[in-house]
Amino acid sequence: MEYIVSDISLKQETLLKNESIFSIANGYIGVRGNFEEGYLPGLNTIRGTYLNAFYDTIPIHYPETAYGYPHTIQRALNLMDSQGINIILDHSNVIPEVHRISEYSRTLDMKKGIVTRSYIYTTKKNETLRITFKRMTSFLQKELFIINLKVEPITYHGPITIESTLNGNIENYVNDSDPRVANGSSRLLTIDKIDATGCLSLQMQTANSDLSCACASDVVLSPETMEFSVDESAGHDTDKAFQSFSFEPGKTVELTKYNIYTDSLRHNDCLQDALKILSNCTERDFQYWEDEQKEYLTRFWENINISILGDLKIQNSLRFNMYQLLQSVGRDRFSNVSAKGLTGEGYEGHFFWDTEIFILPMFLLTMPEIAKNLLMYRYNILDFAKEKAKLLGHQKGALFPWRTISGPECSAFFPAGTAQYHISGDIAYAFISYFLVTEDVEFMYAYGAEIIIETARLWVQTGHEKDGVFRIDCVTGPDEYTAMVNNNYYTNAIAKFNLFWAWQIVDYFKRNLSVKKASSLLDRLDSSEEEINEFLEISEKMFLPYDESLDINPQDDSFLNKKPWDFENTPEDKYPLLLNFHPLTIYRHQVLKQADTVLSHFLLEDYAGNSTIKNSFNYYEKISSHDSSLSACIYSMMACKIGDFEKAYSYFLETARLDLDDTHGNTMHGLHMANLGGTYMTLAYGFAGLRIKQSGLFLSPVCPADWDGYNFTISYRQRKISITVSKHTAKITVDGEPLIINVFGTEHFINDFIDLPIPE
Ligand code: BGC
Repeated sequence: MEYIVSDISLKQETLLKNESIFSIANGYIGVRGNFEEGYLPGLNTIRGTYLNAFYDTIPIHYPETAYGYPHTIQRALNLMDSQGINIILDHSNVIPEVHRISEYSRTLDMKKGIVTRSYIYTTKKNETLRITFKRMTSFLQKELFIINLKVEPITYHGPITIESTLNGNIENYVNDSDPRVANGSSRLLTIDKIDATGCLSLQMQTANSDLSCACASDVVLSPETMEFSVDESAGHDTDKAFQSFSFEPGKTVELTKYNIYTDSLRHNDCLQDALKILSNCTERDFQYWEDEQKEYLTRFWENINISILGDLKIQNSLRFNMYQLLQSVGRDRFSNVSAKGLTGEGYEGHFFWDTEIFILPMFLLTMPEIAKNLLMYRYNILDFAKEKAKLLGHQKGALFPWRTISGPECSAFFPAGTAQYHISGDIAYAFISYFLVTEDVEFMYAYGAEIIIETARLWVQTGHEKDGVFRIDCVTGPDEYTAMVNNNYYTNAIAKFNLFWAWQIVDYFKRNLSVKKASSLLDRLDSSEEEINEFLEISEKMFLPYDESLDINPQDDSFLNKKPWDFENTPEDKYPLLLNFHPLTIYRHQVLKQADTVLSHFLLEDYAGNSTIKNSFNYYEKISSHDSSLSACIYSMMACKIGDFEKAYSYFLETARLDLDDTHGNTMHGLHMANLGGTYMTLAYGFAGLRIKQSGLFLSPVCPADWDGYNFTISYRQRKISITVSKHTAKITVDGEPLIINVFGTEHFINDFIDLPIPE
């Protein structure tokens, strides 16, 4: 069914994965798909509720330390659990034991924004009831997580008691043997206040970051159910509060549980505010919130207008990936999208370059105001980046943290962390892309230019000129299986672009605003014409490694001299390599975790010739493990670029189904956000050949052999542009002012629409 993801299995193997798949979130709260009524003892679950950017600070103890290492990291926290609803039938709790359950199904309806879980339960006396839970986190009221429960007796005629809980006895998920999740201490929040008068409420306090969070929870019985209610009670012990309701035997019970989460980053008095919001929200019934949610999502789907014709499964996978990004993306100045979004605890809730290079493009092309917010998040942490540049010995410039929540570096492993200087260039690249898509001059004047100039300064400070070329030593590129190298092609290329734009943006202001405004910007940033011209000069002198005999761009100065990895004798169970080999073993070989030079050839295709791009693709593909989920989408897009559409499609399938099929085996730690964004990119930049450059918009659509066609709509400079592709034709529609678009290599003035045959 369209817009539906469903599951009918209760097996342990799929339970943990499905907790991530059926996560619900609204950019602020995220709740994993755990069962309200709990599990049988012995069944593994990662029960989790998260608030975007809510963290604690944890000390790092290095047995051997060195100057400039971070001494604390931040970790996103698992908060008080408000999911709990116990159903008690004749003194016995309903626990989903496989042999007692039939007609089980769980469904995510992406048009409604609701997850429904339903089954028929058979009691020990062989009597039956239908139990249905519906849950959502509201896109309209960000603090609201709401659950609706219906218990319908079929042959069961005994008493029903429902107990709703709010549990402060929670901890974070840790695993000491997997570097992709947290290790060490798991219990990070302590209870400040607990109450069960009027409603349930809990306030909790972090150990070190001086933050608190609150949850207020209440149950409202449906009007029909109220008539059969015979008893109510409430209370709490040290860490758990509960409300309990009993009903006349044999009656259908329907109730709604409202949970309001707040935190001290966004609220002065989070507990009082939670209570106030709760009392407003409970005035409206579940249906009201359901209708509002549906309206929001109708607008979302209409706006992106994405379909795949002839392959419902892939269409749904693509929509699921986009929907999950919409759920996890932060919408305020504190928040962003962590590597696993709001769906799990992998990578400790940190924000990486994943946002700028893999996630932002979808929002930029569909909801630019969300993209702008993501960029503002970076602007707001600029001071941390400047401080960090100083710590690393640079006089000026901004070095953004490899991973962070509120701004400071949270990577304790600098070779694959802090050394990834490219993140500063990636952030500048994202600001430039935003400008190219929106022409938002005001934003660039107020914020963007500062980011671009501060990051450009970093390159001036980090590199040096030798033999007439500008070189950058001892950095790590995107590929984490090669570290601390000289002249990483990707880093040098993005630095070149960053430096060029630092000059270009000032030039743009001079020409389009005024010379006076441009010079007042330079004053504000303590810059000068001299500095800006130096940026241009260095950009032009930037060394981009090139190997003439292979006609490829080597990943760095030493890469081609290393020993190739012995893939033939590496058994399947030794992947991902990072879990089975010491980093030095990996660094000494030609082996890639993820796209590096090939990614640069996507982002900055004009820096290399077509034959170099093709040869590089073929060279790096053979030695790539794709151990990172950030790899397949790039290879898919670049396979399109070099005209290998079959290969492109097979990489596309990997990205589209990566979490749904758990192909990396760790979906239980949360969904792979960058890959979700990558799926959209493979459609737009891969199959539709979209490029957005200073010289305009480029398209070159093809239709994968397995599909009958596809369509999507993007926002571009106050217009909506729809791309509708069938087997042999591509139709481009411009809604708004006419536009010149380069399609299949030729410029077309498009007033309304254009229909073109797809070249053979
Ligand atoms: C990748 C990084 C990525 C991080 C978070 C790592 O496995 O190598 O490029 O930023 O995951 O997604």
